[in-house]
Amino acid sequence: MPISDAMQKAFNEQIQKEFASAYLYLAMSAYFESLSLEGFAQWMKIQAQEEVLHGMKLFDHLQERGGRVVLGEVGQPQAEFDSPLEAFELVGSHEAMVTKSIHQLFTLAEGERDYASQGILQWFSTEQVEEEDTANRIVERLRMIEDNKAALFMMDNELSARATAGGDGGAE
Ligand code: FEO
Repeated sequence: MPISDAMQKAFNEQIQKEFASAYLYLAMSAYFESLSLEGFAQWMKIQAQEEVLHGMKLFDHLQERGGRVVLGEVGQPQAEFDSPLEAFELVGSHEAMVTKSIHQLFTLAEGERDYASQGILQWFSTEQVEEEDTANRIVERLRMIEDNKAALFMMDNELSARATAGGDGGAE
């Protein structure tokens, strides 16, 4: 069954959001690199790669369904942050926005009885639970750390161990 115009539009908007997420996290990676927090920088770089994979998953789905991909504009992301905590708080709120967007897309797919899209969106919905949870856990730890530089560098070392993108979602 070919995808409807409404679903096509919504998928194109979601593709834009995923690539905008990749761009934002890459900007955060550069910010962390500027602070010599290389573990945080590496974590963000992998997160950016995850977002590209998300965008491509939607890109492929839309094309497999006979839809037309039309890429939206990806604006300049925020480059500076007051602190690692502020950057991760933004990750948390950004992921909450993405989750809401996925849920709206799912609701649209339900209304259209687009079962194939519901399948792929279920995967995204589960992925979002993990992404929000991971961001929130890091925010909590950064709040506990406050200005303790030793604890921050210890956490930096931990985050440097993050596996590459494309495994189990990789948001750890
Ligand atoms: Fe692809 Fe982090 O949402």
